[in-house]
Amino acid sequence: MGLDLGWATPVEWVERIAPYELELLSDHAHCELKAAAMGQVLIAKNPEYPTLVEAITPIVIEEMQHFGLVFEELTRRGGQLGEQMPSPYADGLHRGSAEGRTSMLLDRLLIAHLIEGRSLERLHLLSSFHPDVKLRAMFGGLCASEAQHRAVFLGLAADFFGVAANSRLDELTRLEATVLEGLSFAPRVHSGMC
Ligand SMILES: [Fe+2]
Ligand SMILES: [Fe+2]
Repeated sequence: MGLDLGWATPVEWVERIAPYELELLSDHAHCELKAAAMGQVLIAKNPEYPTLVEAITPIVIEEMQHFGLVFEELTRRGGQLGEQMPSPYADGLHRGSAEGRTSMLLDRLLIAHLIEGRSLERLHLLSSFHPDVKLRAMFGGLCASEAQHRAVFLGLAADFFGVAANSRLDELTRLEATVLEGLSFAPRVHSGMC
């Protein structure tokens, strides 16, 4: 897909996750909730940047719309939204990120860009190879929106931090790949293959 990720998910990941459709839908619904929450935190912690607030507000709304779609499909299939579980993927990314006020914003924007990119990669794989035709359509229907979110976060990082965003993106891209590649397989959107 040309997503410039540091590690490409093999198609076998879809084969492994396909039998766990309810678990995957529940985790995916939580991913959408977390994406909305992440956007709200970015807004709440950076109110001095109106362009950031304007760019991220529609993303928060769209992530909640995605949550509604995935939740509807989950319940239609007789599933229930499970408890929100800790994410070793997101935890690994945030452990490797900066804590200073300014550099933290850069890292938060780039991590949001990377998570959107990885989610897009996984949704694209699911929309291409999942055996359930209805799920393929649902996952595929989210791709354009996640691609746009991914671009918005990178655009904000570039606008605010210029060339510094490029070198930090290289570092965080490597971190993201290392974290994900080392994760065990689980019926989750951001699981590894170990
Ligand atoms: Fe989404
Ligand atoms: Fe998104």
